[in-house]
Amino acid sequence: MVAQRLTCGTTQVVLGRSLLAPADILPERERASVAVVAQPATARLARDFARAAVRAGLRSEVRVLPDGEAAKDLGVVAELYEWLIGMSVARSDTLVAFGGGSLTDAAGFAAATYLRGIEVVYVATTLLAAVDAAIGGKTGVNLGAKNLVGSFRHPARVVIDVDVLDRLPAAVKRGGMSEALKAGLIGDEALVGLLERDGMEADLEEVVGRAVAVKAAVVGKDFEEQGERVHLNYGHTVGHGVEVAGGIGHGPAVAIGMVAAGRASALERGFEGEDRQRAAIARLGLPVAAPGLDRMAVLALMAADKKRDAGGLRMVLLERIGAPTVAHVGSATVEAALTAVEIA
Ligand SMILES: NC(=O)c1ccc[n+]([C@@H]2O[C@H](COP(=O)([O-])OP(=O)(O)OC[C@H]3O[C@@H](n4cnc5c(N)ncnc54)[C@H](O)[C@@H]3O)[C@@H](O)[C@H]2O)c1
Repeated sequence: MVAQRLTCGTTQVVLGRSLLAPADILPERERASVAVVAQPATARLARDFARAAVRAGLRSEVRVLPDGEAAKDLGVVAELYEWLIGMSVARSDTLVAFGGGSLTDAAGFAAATYLRGIEVVYVATTLLAAVDAAIGGKTGVNLGAKNLVGSFRHPARVVIDVDVLDRLPAAVKRGGMSEALKAGLIGDEALVGLLERDGMEADLEEVVGRAVAVKAAVVGKDFEEQGERVHLNYGHTVGHGVEVAGGIGHGPAVAIGMVAAGRASALERGFEGEDRQRAAIARLGLPVAAPGLDRMAVLALMAADKKRDAGGLRMVLLERIGAPTVAHVGSATVEAALTAVEIA
């Protein structure tokens, strides 16, 4: 089947199957070297690609970075710069990152800053990276707090091979489904309908294509998050508190956060889709409550979250599916939202 080509800012997003050859991954132009970074789980894919690049006449080497959040570290990025210098990677060369959002965030930051910026391509190998992290040009590393140092810079290309996503472990895939559903809730009712109908069996090519389109539309209007881009944080205010206080994974935590935001939306904006949203989350096997968490701990984390300003807590709410808004919410609504997810 022919690959879909979408755009997000200056990024070309290539979505389809069997897309791991140099001609699929590398934008067509002259270059001497391709530096390739991977996670332990993607090292084999990256090495296969590098070998094919060498056969195509390029210089190519692979570096495997530490897994997960450990890659988003200035020390790891400094070692990456040294490696690029050792390989004599020039301004006209390309960095290709095979992995999930932790790797694309770190590699994207390195590419944005090495020689003041070299071309970077992400091969998004988790569903979360495909629908969210790799799309939209935010890069970053952690420095005490998450994503404290970073840049806004679009990758040249994002390649999403659905054959790779189909083979993901169920738990990794489910986490990405939470962000895909969020994209539907804020911008595409048909995507919500698809996930309600097919759950975890939903066609990933359609899910990813629709979720990318939602994110690209938002980012197209507000690249540097001055306004509308904050809609992508739907479910993330309570979600962040639940993730940190409960040690719950990001995707499941966002699912719980969306249930809470749904209640707040009903109270503040007359949102009528609360039950429908809850059922869609449950249909994906994601949690709809976090019983046992300490309400004070979650509230403290929400208060420290960057979405709070001088006017109080700001939450992304839904007026209806596909119609998000941002509002200050009072403590009665916050309490009711936490009660809705059984945080007592
Ligand atoms: N830049 C953004 O706009 C943005 C948006 C959302 C999230 N993020 C970031 O994304 C990160 C989370 O992304 P993630 O969930 O992809 O995490 P991740 O990159 O840590 O990947 C999760 C796990 O899956 C493994 N993995 C990757 N590809 C695999 C494959 N094909 N098969 C089996 N295992 C595979 C990884 O090695 C890792 O252990 C966070 O750091 C978050 O801050 C960034």
